[in-house]
Amino acid sequence: MSVDWSKRYRQGKTPWEKGQAHPELAALLEVHRDLVEAADHILVPGCGFGHDARLIDRHSKGTVTGLDIAPEAIEQARILTEKPGPRWVVGDLFNWQGAYDLVFEHTCFCAIPVERRPEYVESMARLIRPGGSLLGIFFLNPDHEGEAGPPFGVQREELDHFFGNFFEIRWSAAPRQTYPSRLGDGRELSLLLQRQA
Ligand SMILES: C[S@@+](CC[C@H](N)C(=O)[O-])C[C@H]1O[C@@H](n2cnc3c(N)ncnc32)[C@H](O)[C@@H]1O
Repeated sequence: MSVDWSKRYRQGKTPWEKGQAHPELAALLEVHRDLVEAADHILVPGCGFGHDARLIDRHSKGTVTGLDIAPEAIEQARILTEKPGPRWVVGDLFNWQGAYDLVFEHTCFCAIPVERRPEYVESMARLIRPGGSLLGIFFLNPDHEGEAGPPFGVQREELDHFFGNFFEIRWSAAPRQTYPSRLGDGRELSLLLQRQA
């Protein structure tokens, strides 16, 4: 199953677009401040309009790249950004090249067709240098948002299974803050995964 993301943006069918960074992100950046400040290269895949990437950029001393497959999303991210801001690029994470110290994941994993999840994890393992980190807010239970998907739900155990081949779980927590449409127990999970050497 493939999704025409450009079409979704052109048609304005973008229920994930909340006009702000994830409400938990500022707290995450504080908890993991050392990691963020030490990262020279940070990637935000599936960045959409770039709210998360812009907030990360304000906390980062390095280069933040917002990557999205939909040119419409990147065009809007550029419009919303005060310079210098993150570097914005149109591209497919499955082909993207780079060596990042930190990747921030938010509603990208759940946007990927279920059958491509192993490939997503392999891509993250390829893009994150050994010892580098993936910090994510995973949307576990998006059922209340209507259609069959995307977003596609995932169980905690499945995340452990998918990422376990390449990453070690260093930290996890239930977000204390979220968007009103995602309130409810166990709907999201924050994870810090470290790329094995
Ligand atoms: C559910 S949206 C989330 C956007 C953003 N993270 C947010 O929370 O507002 C998923 C995003 O991933 C992008 N995307 C989907 N597949 C992608 C791929 N293979 N490479 C890069 N971006 C992709 C889509 O265009 C879309 O902007």
